[in-house]
Amino acid sequence: MHPVREKAQLSPNVTRLVVEAPRIAQIRKPGQFVIVHMGPGAERIPLTIADGDAEAGTITLVIQSVGKSTGDLVALEVGESIADIAGPLGRPTELIESGHAICVGGGVGTAVVHPIAQGLAAKGVRVTSVIGGRSREWVIFEEELRRYGDVVVCTDDGSYGRHGFVTDALKDALDAGGVDEIYAVGPVPMMRAVSALTEPYGVPTLASLNAIMVDGTGMCGGCRVTVGGKTVYACVDGPEFDAHQVDFRELADRLSTYRSFEQAALERQQQIHVRKMAELAGAAPEAEVGSDTPAVDASTLQEASR
Ligand code: NAD
Ligand code: FES
Repeated sequence: MHPVREKAQLSPNVTRLVVEAPRIAQIRKPGQFVIVHMGPGAERIPLTIADGDAEAGTITLVIQSVGKSTGDLVALEVGESIADIAGPLGRPTELIESGHAICVGGGVGTAVVHPIAQGLAAKGVRVTSVIGGRSREWVIFEEELRRYGDVVVCTDDGSYGRHGFVTDALKDALDAGGVDEIYAVGPVPMMRAVSALTEPYGVPTLASLNAIMVDGTGMCGGCRVTVGGKTVYACVDGPEFDAHQVDFRELADRLSTYRSFEQAALERQQQIHVRKMAELAGAAPEAEVGSDTPAVDASTLQEASR
């Protein structure tokens, strides 16, 4: 069992949990992830290890609540426990040894870029983080990333930092020159846009792919992606790949596979909530809750959040 030690709300649907996992805290490396399992019948949720404290024996998980399983996870309170956490999984990030790296984080992907910035700074690499959110309240991990270098914050609506997408700020940095490597983590359209932007500049770019994952050990094939024309598995060959070689269109198509199931699971959860509220108020529920809705959750579509 892995008790929750700390809990904090980072943005309207993003929660940080600090949980006990002493062995993982000691051996985890930037870019690696865990698979979290809440108990019998629950889904397996892949999440990147956003931070860790080997002495305290804890790891930090940042969860975007987008479906039933992630909703159950963020509902945990301090003192309650996660049944199983498997990991660390995946290949650690290939960190450059010197020079200037830009870490691009979009939305909840900013938490995934954090350990990469941490690892780069530990090697003495100059780190600039370019992070974005829809508006001020969606920007996360700004203070944490400032420990490792400059941070440029962008918001889609201009409510905080620079007005625009992360790619706008990244373009200015590329035009200024002297960039040796880019690490991009965020929604697929963002990673695709970053890749298209950096390719003409010839700057190596790694993207962390949030493919569908089930077992996380290379057996189910759920996380297959095409990179450089070859089929590879995000869980064991990644999750990071040369962005210029990734077939982002195929990744986006595969991520949309379970959208209707996610919607059904969410609607069912909302019906259960309405029913419970009605019962508490002593009124008869208006709608019956079906029991045959598959419990497929959007969290399966997340990285290694990740
Ligand atoms: P979001 O849609 O709010 O976007 C966050 C930021 O990304 C924006 O503010 C913008 O700066 C940038 N962005 C988005 N679309 C862009 C585009 N077309 N061009 C350039 N920049 C763009 O992000 P969110 O809701 O926090 O992210 C959710 C998504 O991120 C989910 O789909 C989730 O699966 C994915 N995710 C990916 C990883 C990963 O490892 N790649 C990890 C966690 C989550
Ligand atoms: Fe099953 Fe990668 S998650 S093969």
